[in-house]
Amino acid sequence: MEIKFKLFLEKLIYNSDIFSKKDIKVAKKVAKELGEKILKPLNAGSFGKAYETESGKVLKITSDEEEFHIAQKLSRNKNWMKCLINYYNVGELISQDYDYKWYILMDKVLPLTTLEKVTINYYYMDIIQYNKNYWEDINNEKKIKKIRNSDTNVRKMANKLYPYIVKICKELKLHKIKETDFHSENMGWDKNFENLVLFDLGGCIEEIEPSNRKINKIKI
Ligand SMILES: Nc1ncnc2c1ncn2[C@@H]1O[C@H](COP(=O)(O)OP(=O)(O)O)[C@@H](O)[C@H]1O
Ligand SMILES: [Mg+2]
Repeated sequence: MEIKFKLFLEKLIYNSDIFSKKDIKVAKKVAKELGEKILKPLNAGSFGKAYETESGKVLKITSDEEEFHIAQKLSRNKNWMKCLINYYNVGELISQDYDYKWYILMDKVLPLTTLEKVTINYYYMDIIQYNKNYWEDINNEKKIKKIRNSDTNVRKMANKLYPYIVKICKELKLHKIKETDFHSENMGWDKNFENLVLFDLGGCIEEIEPSNRKINKIKI
């Protein structure tokens, strides 16, 4: 009975279908090394698992090497990126048997509403996701014509979000990020709801020149 209850609690707390005991153990260890403490598992995607820390940041443990390289490159630019997530610490996990090889400590963003998610995926995902010409296309009147003259709620929202989306593209271009996995599950609002922020900057490995900065390493 006691064990059952413990298991039930663990499942409730850690959503153990996604987060295994090993995942939690690794996340706790990495957080500790970084002077952080895991508050709770947040969510997972196809490459990585994200945890909220007590200081209000997100620790992501991922198998996406490109995301690591981009984060490593961008983590130099502290405090001036507005629409790409700010990184605090990035590095490699040294392990014999754990599939996820990289960690990234970053800011946490606030979730989008369902209407914002639907709108982004319906109107903007096709234009930007894995598209090397995202900058030309997001500024191309013809391509974005269908969102003009709004009358439905979704189209109104598409117009409202347009300047935020352009700002994200501008920062991607500035940092020479050629393609991204642009969709609603990879973005959120910053703490004052001033900027829409992209946080999962993975994509296509051959496009990235690995940085020659020293790589932080944590043994797990
Ligand atoms: N910085 C963050 N702020 C808020 N939520 C996040 C953050 N990073 C990740 N998440 C949550 O975790 C999920 C998985 O993270 P993500 O970086 O998209 O992983 P993957 O590379 O596997 O797609 C996201 O969809 C989101 O719900
Ligand atoms: Mg993602």
